[in-house]
Amino acid sequence: MSNRPALPPEIARRRTFAIISHPDAGKTTLTEKFLLFGGAIQMAGQVRAKGEARRTRSDFMSMEKERGISVSASAMSFDYRDFRYNLVDTPGHSDFSEDTYRTLTAVDAAVMVIDGAKGVESQTRKLFEVCRLRDLPILTFCNKMDRESRDTFEIVDEIQENLAIDVTPASWPIGVGRDFIGCYDLLRDRLELMDRADRNRRAASIEINGLDDPEIEKHVPAHLLEKLREEVEMARELLPPLDITAVLQGTMTPIWFGSAINSFGVKELMDGIGNYGPEPQPTPATPRQIAPEESKVAGFVFKVQANMDPKHRDRVAFVRLASGHFERGMKLLHVRSKKPMAVSNPVLFLAADRELAEEAWAGDIIGIPNHGQLRIGDTLTEGEALRVTGIPSFAPELLQNVRAGDPMKAKHLEKALMQFAEEGAAKVFKPQIGSGFIVGVVGQLQFEVLGRRIEDEYGLPVRFESSQFISARWVSGPKDKVERFAEANKQHMARDNDGDLVYLTRLQWDIDRVERDYPDITLTATKEMM
Ligand code: G4P
Repeated sequence: MSNRPALPPEIARRRTFAIISHPDAGKTTLTEKFLLFGGAIQMAGQVRAKGEARRTRSDFMSMEKERGISVSASAMSFDYRDFRYNLVDTPGHSDFSEDTYRTLTAVDAAVMVIDGAKGVESQTRKLFEVCRLRDLPILTFCNKMDRESRDTFEIVDEIQENLAIDVTPASWPIGVGRDFIGCYDLLRDRLELMDRADRNRRAASIEINGLDDPEIEKHVPAHLLEKLREEVEMARELLPPLDITAVLQGTMTPIWFGSAINSFGVKELMDGIGNYGPEPQPTPATPRQIAPEESKVAGFVFKVQANMDPKHRDRVAFVRLASGHFERGMKLLHVRSKKPMAVSNPVLFLAADRELAEEAWAGDIIGIPNHGQLRIGDTLTEGEALRVTGIPSFAPELLQNVRAGDPMKAKHLEKALMQFAEEGAAKVFKPQIGSGFIVGVVGQLQFEVLGRRIEDEYGLPVRFESSQFISARWVSGPKDKVERFAEANKQHMARDNDGDLVYLTRLQWDIDRVERDYPDITLTATKEMM
């Protein structure tokens, strides 16, 4: 069921996706089950990270450290049935949400995990909105059905109302909480029964011929069956049927009900991603978009991660291949610097191991170790000067002044800050008045991480101090109007780390005032990274 039939089979079988969820909904558990079913790990429980470690770094990184297993940070690949899945990690902690947002530019679909008792939570909504900006297809997994959960219609309604997306049930839960026994697969007319005894076992599938098949009575107690028949009838009347085009356009989400911890509903979800989740999609770029089936390789950096080893300044750039068939040793053009780059030691993140990538296809994620040449938003091609667009940079939600402990080291501090800004770890603003820097982040924890890294990696103790400003907006408009605006609001103006003009705000009122008094000026909370 493909939306772009012309892809070479190796590309057509790739599914590159991320999981979006509110912390605690079950993302880690679900990931673990994906890996288990994908044959990447032998036993569930191997990949769990706990407590603070998990919250301060990417889940996968802390797993790697704590468990001594080589599950890579940020991206993992595994095979299940006919498909190659590339799961790109989105850090669970809301403090790193900007990273998360950018990650979503590297995927073709998202799996939204919600907790059946809690429904749509704040972080889910935020991430969903970003998916929507890109019309990303979303498949929903309603987790923790083994516990007391909300009424199924209520959950579906809440998603429809809250997120303004059509919801079509792919499965329907049978029983609630302790009485939950499994699901009826509405797409394949099958009964899926949960095995509470063995949490790592896939559920038993029982082929039946619709809800009136007497076979079903052997497996579902009468009172649950009656309710199931009633609800399914109602659901079929009230809710839209699966429309694959609408799913691919991001206006409809199929929902599966399950329990990740019990491995229940997971294989149906994986099949769903395979069957309905999109193949690698074209990548927006200028001056033209890049189609995955193009024979020439192109890719873009969506994430940069400093090496775990603090003695080396090496970084790994995570590159999503937008097109072609990549082979190790290829020389690619680094479009921003116009310099060729031999990619001799790329890493492929097969979940079982971090491996040298001998080859990769459009849709895959490869890691390219480098010394800082590769930045977020950079494009690599086989020669054409293409630039991938749509990699957003978000206005920070927290601002602080930063000072070097030793005032003589101000220049060093500037260098360190610029480097972290390039990595996407923070925004750095140079106010037009005064000599200091303001650092902007999305969550408080980022200040701590940044402070620690500047000290560790540059030997520079730094101090963060509160700033009168709370956020920043990028400024655009006709040149003369922008100049006049900047002149009249000097105490608010700054340049970001790319040299672009921003307006620093103290209160929402500042933004309202600009909108009222300067109708030609546009203030935006996002900008493209180039
Ligand atoms: P996250 O990555 O989205 O933050 O969630 P995570 O998978 O860590 O799951 C959060 C908690 O919910 C964990 O419990 C996990 O065991 C539990 N959980 C996940 N899936 C299910 C499910 O299907 N049913 C039930 N009942 N619980 C589920 P915890 O107590 O925080 O951790 P742990 O002690 O179990 O490791």
